[in-house]
Amino acid sequence: MKLFIDSANIGEIREAVSWGIIDGVTTNPSLMAKEKGLAMEKIAKEICKMVKGPVSLEGGAMEHEAMLREGRAFSSLAKNAVFKIPMTIDGVRTVKKLSAEGIKTNVTLVFSANQALLAAKAGATFVSPFIGRLDDIGRSGIDLIREIVLIFRAHDLKTKVLAASIRDTDHVKQSALVGADMATVPFQILRKMFDHELTDKGIAIFQKAWKEKNQ
Ligand code: E4P
Repeated sequence: MKLFIDSANIGEIREAVSWGIIDGVTTNPSLMAKEKGLAMEKIAKEICKMVKGPVSLEGGAMEHEAMLREGRAFSSLAKNAVFKIPMTIDGVRTVKKLSAEGIKTNVTLVFSANQALLAAKAGATFVSPFIGRLDDIGRSGIDLIREIVLIFRAHDLKTKVLAASIRDTDHVKQSALVGADMATVPFQILRKMFDHELTDKGIAIFQKAWKEKNQ
């Protein structure tokens, strides 16, 4: 499973990329808004330079023609830019048109298998089912990922399942177990994935032994 970082913070992205495990980036308007004093276009260009893989960029347009203009503009920023589009009728119509033009798309705010199916039918490159926000309302986000993976495999749909709205390290593991193609993970959760108390304890024991033997 590929790992993306869910962030618009240049420092976080640079640090995570330096670990050698990042395959792409997702941003959204809320994440962009946290980055005070920097224009979105500047942040987007910088991120696209820092990462080889796909970088999802989301705009504000909600109407088909405006979405088309926004998608074309984002895709001209960098080769690895992906236009992130909300799951609406206008959004799906836009995906159909842009995918015919070779522009990569990520259909976001997906909360049902039927929504994912529609996005895939239109030719979306990625669909982003939101795990955490479904869990928040007492439904299972992981069950949704499992359903979408099964449907896409059964019908040979090429759209990639990008597990989003990840709230803890267990969401990452569960996404991998049910076959998501990638998960987009906030920086702090990526950082926590490295940790285990027995790793720390084991390092302390081996370090002590190494020093006793070699000093
Ligand atoms: C996905 O691409 C979104 O940017 C993100 O995962 C949303 O996560 P949230 O529900 O924690 O805001």
